[in-house]
Amino acid sequence: MADATAVPGASGCPRRAFLRSGAYGTAGLGAAAFGAVGTLTGCSDEQDDGAEAVHEGSDWQAASSAEDLPVGSTADAEVAGYLLVLHRAADDEVHAFEAVCTHEGCRVEAEQERYYCPCHGSVFALDSGDAEAGPAREPLTRFQARIQGGSVEVLV
Ligand code: FES
Repeated sequence: MADATAVPGASGCPRRAFLRSGAYGTAGLGAAAFGAVGTLTGCSDEQDDGAEAVHEGSDWQAASSAEDLPVGSTADAEVAGYLLVLHRAADDEVHAFEAVCTHEGCRVEAEQERYYCPCHGSVFALDSGDAEAGPAREPLTRFQARIQGGSVEVLV
């Protein structure tokens, strides 16, 4: 029986592109902060080594007003068809991840202290997206994010 919380298309690769980077910086510093992103890779098995996957986007779009995401808070969002979880870590620092569990593709929810997958209980860290508990081992896919002109923007 299909899981009601599974995200359609989540297990397939065509919807996502990945950039792998050991030099990846802090989200929320604007596009210039991401100039050191590393080698473009495919999807599939190459993501199974625990390295962070970063969505390759080309268009900054508003995910929320900055006022609606105060420092220390989290939120769920949908931008350009992507389901996201957001965390504002500081005035000028926001983190965004695809809300698709890296275990079996269920939708991850933003909670106060974590991102949580209700299907099998995986827990992901707010600022890194790293899998911290449960069956998921890989981090959530990061989306570049920033605070710009009173909005939380995500590169989609
Ligand atoms: S699909 Fe998220 S923990 Fe299994």
